Amino acid sequence: MTETLAADEAGIAAAAGLLRAGRLVAFGTETVYGLGGDATNAAAVAAIFAAKGRPRFNPLICHYPDADSAFADVVANDLARIVAAAFWPGPLTLVLPRRPECPVALLAGAGLGTLAVRVPAHQLARALLRAVDRPVAAPSANRSGQVSPTTAGHVRDGLGGRIDAVLDSGPCAVGVESTVLDLGDTPVLLRPGGVTQEALEALIGPIARAAPGAALKGPGMLASHYAPSLPVRLAATSVAADEALLAFGAPLAGAAATFQLSAAGDLREAAARLFDGLRRLDEEGARRGLVGIAVMDIPGRGLGEAINDRLGRAAAPRGND
Ligand code: TXA
Ligand code: MG
Repeated sequence: MTETLAADEAGIAAAAGLLRAGRLVAFGTETVYGLGGDATNAAAVAAIFAAKGRPRFNPLICHYPDADSAFADVVANDLARIVAAAFWPGPLTLVLPRRPECPVALLAGAGLGTLAVRVPAHQLARALLRAVDRPVAAPSANRSGQVSPTTAGHVRDGLGGRIDAVLDSGPCAVGVESTVLDLGDTPVLLRPGGVTQEALEALIGPIARAAPGAALKGPGMLASHYAPSLPVRLAATSVAADEALLAFGAPLAGAAATFQLSAAGDLREAAARLFDGLRRLDEEGARRGLVGIAVMDIPGRGLGEAINDRLGRAAAPRGND
């Protein structure tokens, strides 16, 4: 049974109690819902992998209420401090070397010498993290390879019955996951996300991109990910009568079903609606026997980079995750 907890003091206290007892609780952040477990408890971390059906080599992000608590577990260089001061709390994850005394279970980092740490901006999430008073490992709260959840209902659809509770804080404002930035020797962008590469580069200068196939550096970069069950066709300039349409701006005519990401062509609005749109079209398409989801072209600037990254994975050949 998966209990739904309200976004109030009692709900936070109940969620924190479950997490401290080694149970699994999904909670909303500004990006997507995370599937939380006590990162210092290896059994809880193992349970996260099992509930998601996630490949074991894929390391998890640890969540903290503030930069000080995050930097108690990893070694922050000057660059990390500068970036954290500008973008935390917020949709940015930093990959840094673990400190020797870091209490996070090795399994959470998939045995790597580095750890991904993040301070979310969502007030309820931060209140929960303060109440737990331990690092909380939280991948997106979906079955591995499927579309990330941006509402408590999405979480229940995928993980209902497999986790103890979901703390319902309503829909997520950003809608795509955090940007993952490796600040090892030189900065490397491992995953585009809620903080744009442009914004980061304005602060710290040029940032390299992870080479395609650098699967072990950013294993969440599995080619097929975020996959709905219907095939996804990108950059559609026309749509067939037996296809569903994910529209951006003036919609193409003739689709069997249409989900509008942003009529005004606003990339923020589109990011916030992306995963919900993929889910809805997938459900409707399955119900009505449609053959696929056609996606209109979305510009690659700003948040468009993260949107196109997720859509590219949704459209990739299946079978590796
Ligand atoms: O917005 C988010 O980041 C959400 C919310 C819940 O905070 N979480 C999330 O977690 O998206 P997850 O586990 O789905 O994605 C974690 C990403 C993956 O791409 C993973 O490979 C990468 O971070 N990652 C984690 N630890 C890493 C490490 N030590 N080195 C390199 N990449 C790492
Ligand atoms: Mg994910």
